[in-house]
Amino acid sequence: STGLREHKFGIPISQVEDVYERAKSLRNIDPAGVSCHIGSQLLETAPLLEALDALLVLVDQLSSRGIAVRHLDVGGGLGVPYKADQKSPCPTEYAGCVRERVAGRDLEIMLEPGRSIVAEAGVLLSRVLYRKQTGGKEFVIVDAAMNDMLRPALYSAHHEIIPLRQKGFGTIHADVVGPVCETGDFLAREREIANVFPGDLVAICTAGAYGFVSASNYNARPRPAEVLVENDGWRVTRERETYEDLIRGESL
Ligand SMILES: Cc1ncc(COP(=O)(O)O)c(C=O)c1O
Repeated sequence: STGLREHKFGIPISQVEDVYERAKSLRNIDPAGVSCHIGSQLLETAPLLEALDALLVLVDQLSSRGIAVRHLDVGGGLGVPYKADQKSPCPTEYAGCVRERVAGRDLEIMLEPGRSIVAEAGVLLSRVLYRKQTGGKEFVIVDAAMNDMLRPALYSAHHEIIPLRQKGFGTIHADVVGPVCETGDFLAREREIANVFPGDLVAICTAGAYGFVSASNYNARPRPAEVLVENDGWRVTRERETYEDLIRGESL
């Protein structure tokens, strides 16, 4: 939704020529590039390629006004499969389509993929604390919360949640929630998940993008450790935070 008209980002393409004319008239500004980012988590490349086509028309329009664009930044946006039935676009195919469209032009092309590089490389591990039935619903309370993984609370993002050990006890229909004192503290709602019990470890999948970086200390919760798994080994790349970390820098 980054590129929707009603949102704060960018400037409408209809205003670009005037803005670049103004930039050209300024002594210390060289309007050398055009940059766009239409949105994130796109599972089809068609909108990205449509945007590129529009940018190329714009580059030609600017060129006819004596503004030579030398850099074209087409932004990020390639999606990843958060759900088992989703299929993500192939970066190589996308690059091929971009290449085809810009062939023969004297343009440096930049791409800014974020999520598609790292999302699938990360999982958030969490331990089941309790099970609770209330209001006719089943809740699985885990030790990770909205402060560790904000995406579900922020925009109802879907992350698959799977047990580390499949014990074959069937499935349950439940909300998976954290221990933070907010109704919005959930990792999954109304989800069919494995029948897990206190002590079990679960993986909150596809957590490598916009995951840890959005973690906070809300509710005085130290952030978890980050661990890099490489071949058969692993190492801690960020220490688990402690209570001392929470109060460091504070004084009365
Ligand atoms: C300007 C810009 N470029 C690139 C990205 C990365 O997007 P994505 O992770 O969807 O590839 C973002 C994300 O919001 C962005 O705002």
